[in-house]
Amino acid sequence: MAWDPAQYGLFEAARARPGHDLMAALPPLKPATVVDLGCGAGKLTMALANRYSVAEVAGVDSSAAMLGRAALLDTRVAWQLGDIRHWRPAAPVHLLFSNAALQWVEGHGEIFPQLLSYVAPGGVMAVQMPRNFTSPSHALLRQVAADGPWAGLLEGRLREAPVHEPAQYYDWLVPGAAHVDVWETEYLHVLDGPDPVLEWTKATAMLPVLETLTGAMLADFIERYRAALAAAYPRRVDGRTLFPFRRLFIVATRA
Ligand SMILES: C[S@@+](CC[C@H](N)C(=O)[O-])C[C@H]1O[C@@H](n2cnc3c(N)ncnc32)[C@H](O)[C@@H]1O
Repeated sequence: MAWDPAQYGLFEAARARPGHDLMAALPPLKPATVVDLGCGAGKLTMALANRYSVAEVAGVDSSAAMLGRAALLDTRVAWQLGDIRHWRPAAPVHLLFSNAALQWVEGHGEIFPQLLSYVAPGGVMAVQMPRNFTSPSHALLRQVAADGPWAGLLEGRLREAPVHEPAQYYDWLVPGAAHVDVWETEYLHVLDGPDPVLEWTKATAMLPVLETLTGAMLADFIERYRAALAAAYPRRVDGRTLFPFRRLFIVATRA
């Protein structure tokens, strides 16, 4: 997909917060190797590199645009263009980290145990994924997509619920793990600006729409979706918008 680092960076602090919360939940570790899967523009990878300053750190992402932004940050990190589905480390990794990326990778039942198998004994796999696919931001997107002249073009392009129930991840990981900690947090992001939820989803959930529609049809779609979002997420007394956002966290220690 055509990831846009500038659009994604519009709400940088709110988007980064779960990643920092995931880092804060890591058990004490002195990893020799750290890999950030789906590292995007690399800000969290840099936070990992600063925290584990003696580790070899790599960031893997399939978007050249996102990695191009990351590469401007630091040359200590090995920025690698690659697809998580086919990624395999040369040697077991001590900390395998992934923030807001694995929800884009199909086949979780295979990918999660496989990724844990790449972690060294005693090492950690730490993952955060959104689990807000039934919230108005996503439900309205699917609703508008299904009801308009664009319906045929968009059929099958928007995913219903790519992230499963929390307990499912426990079941997938526990056979290879000494310990699996799974929890959810619902953030209440405080967003500035006009139509901030629209601007938020333009960088993520709306990408298939932005890639498929053009011209007047795209403008019509955006206006319908914008109006629906404005009704679902009204401005608060200070003019800002609250955006409830549930996220799933997993920290698994390899057996
Ligand atoms: C929402 S961004 C998160 C970026 C970063 N982890 C962060 O927290 O800021 C998702 C990233 O996952 C990457 N991604 C999605 N599917 C991928 C795949 N199959 N292989 C590698 N990267 C992928 C995208 O290119 C994008 O940069």
